Amino acid sequence: MRKKFVAGNWKMFTDHATAKKLAQEVVELMAGNHQVNVALCPPFTYLQTVGEVLKGTHIALGAQNCYHEKEGAFTGEISPAMLIDIGCKYVILGHSERRHKMGECDIAVNKKVHAALNAGLHVILCIGESLDERQANKTNEILKNQLDGSLAGVNATCFKSLVLAYEPVWAIGTGHNATPQQAQDAHAFIRSWIAKHHGAEVAAQMVIQYGGSVKPDNAASLLTQPDVDGGLIGGASLKADQFLGIIRAGM
Ligand code: PGA
Repeated sequence: MRKKFVAGNWKMFTDHATAKKLAQEVVELMAGNHQVNVALCPPFTYLQTVGEVLKGTHIALGAQNCYHEKEGAFTGEISPAMLIDIGCKYVILGHSERRHKMGECDIAVNKKVHAALNAGLHVILCIGESLDERQANKTNEILKNQLDGSLAGVNATCFKSLVLAYEPVWAIGTGHNATPQQAQDAHAFIRSWIAKHHGAEVAAQMVIQYGGSVKPDNAASLLTQPDVDGGLIGGASLKADQFLGIIRAGM
């Protein structure tokens, strides 16, 4: 059976003191709870501090992005090896804010996925359609294109280090979450894509998170869908009690 996985994407929020406090609160509230896999993904500048708080706990550390090169003259970029060096297990790649606000295309995301997996990171790969695309009945086509592009050349043996996050762009930070049925349908489609390309066994093991306006009061209905294996949480992960409310809903 797939274990639920809930990750907090802190985006460009917190400062040094609030990042440390938030991580400490999550650790305290999570004490003794091993039923759900959990990760915190703070901004780069607080990875070290949050990593120190998480040391010795079963809560993993994740970053929100990386570059595809190992090292070199790439001013402002961070390599997968650097993330491992500072204690990261996960990296979020292909988030819609990077795709839409920073212009990252599937080719760039694909390079990052390869680099991160080769370096030994676990990747949380985000995919999802815009409102226009959903209204034009193109959701599955967009998901297929993003999966084809972002996962090109990634073979089935790497899939154990891969988590997918279905994040409809129209649901991120808007307060309009997908209905449980919309989420289930998209997740089932994603799983069928994996089965088609990498076999039923790999598909059955793949953890697929839902992300987009998950809150404690809607988490249970989303996270109990058969193909929804947890959540990638933005806004609600910035409040420890809300984040824990979501984790408990996944148990
Ligand atoms: P949200 O963000 O929970 O604030 O909608 C989710 C995400 O962007 O991962």
